[in-house]
Amino acid sequence: MLDKIKEEQSDLAQMVRLALAEQTEDVRLFAARLVRKYRGTAPDLAEQLELYLKSKPARSVSPMRRLSPPRPEAGAMPVDDESRLSLLKVFKDDPAKQTPLLSSDVDDALRQLIEERRQSDRLQAMGLTPTRSAIFVGPPGVGKTLTARWLAAQLNVPLYVLDLTAVMSSLLGKSGANLRAAIDYAKREPCVLLLDEIDAIAKRRSDDTDVGELKRLVTVILQEVDEWPASGLLLAATNHPELIDPALWRRFDLEVQFKTPGEQSIKEALKRFLGPDYALFARWIDILAFAFAGYSFSDIERDVQRFRRAVALGAGTDADLVEDFMKARALALDKQGRINLAVMLAKETRLSQHAIADVTGVSRDTIRKYTNGVPTARKTTGRRKADA
Ligand SMILES: Nc1ncnc2c1ncn2[C@@H]1O[C@H](COP(=O)(O)OP(=O)(O)O)[C@@H](O)[C@H]1O
Ligand SMILES: [Mg+2]
Repeated sequence: MLDKIKEEQSDLAQMVRLALAEQTEDVRLFAARLVRKYRGTAPDLAEQLELYLKSKPARSVSPMRRLSPPRPEAGAMPVDDESRLSLLKVFKDDPAKQTPLLSSDVDDALRQLIEERRQSDRLQAMGLTPTRSAIFVGPPGVGKTLTARWLAAQLNVPLYVLDLTAVMSSLLGKSGANLRAAIDYAKREPCVLLLDEIDAIAKRRSDDTDVGELKRLVTVILQEVDEWPASGLLLAATNHPELIDPALWRRFDLEVQFKTPGEQSIKEALKRFLGPDYALFARWIDILAFAFAGYSFSDIERDVQRFRRAVALGAGTDADLVEDFMKARALALDKQGRINLAVMLAKETRLSQHAIADVTGVSRDTIRKYTNGVPTARKTTGRRKADA
């Protein structure tokens, strides 16, 4: 234990020495070493260091830096006294970063928000202020956090994400102060601040289970939202809108609903996530879009990455992978869902009824009945063009 502390102290001293000598490249190398070293024992620290490294690519001057030079008085990031966890995570993404896949209404709302900032003078001339705050609502893995990062990059400001686990892990009675310290820090420069998974603290104040601590936290958030400067953008995200205090809800200028992707968005996602392997899988897109119904973007991305790795390793052909995936998927479907899947496969692919029965567990008789004696497959050439 003592050894460990000694070692950490020596790491700290070394880092300070390199930083004061302005040996930036050495600082980078040393930080990269620390990332590897602490990944096992202090994953949060490792992750944070890694983010800092990534957000400051070696030597090249980031556009962000040009726009907002580091303020001389910039202090250290706020840290919880007990856990020493950094309360804020910082992201500085490239504005050229790919736009998240968004439904058209979300896209419209966010583009207006960006435009309001770009033309804030025009708004001001008419006595209007740009949208100050927005709440992102939607199930996990559909891009709430990703979109916050993209928005900040579009606005050329850093994104601070308030780590509510760190706030909550602080000593009872101190989380309010921690929360305030973190928000105050973010207020010091134009930025986007994301209160991620805000339901973690913003439970309904009338909840029986509420302890005073939670109530105080909600009060702090309410005040902070009210006092949030128009120069920044305050975002909150939640998977549980029903848990949000209505008083808090009302304070957000804009509500943005993120949805589980529909068929068209799933196809776009497949195209994006498959990247160069899209051509290989193009003939399966309709089937995959059907099978991925109800999945979040992040689930789709995960499975697609798995396909691509398998193909890269030669561990299976695209057909094998899709077939295995459909089999697994069919298990999760009810009877009618399996029949729909079988009919789809019969109409859209060259698979034999035998193979389809094998994949879906639907009997060939049933498949025949539903496809109405339509000969399976062979109507394909036109399709592929439409997909490309
Ligand atoms: N709308 C989207 N467009 C593109 N990729 C997405 C989208 N939503 C999720 N993803 C992928 O899934 C990952 C997790 O999404 P995230 O933004 O953390 O979801 P949420 O915050 O809604 O739970 C993202 O980093 C991205 O790789
Ligand atoms: Mg999220």
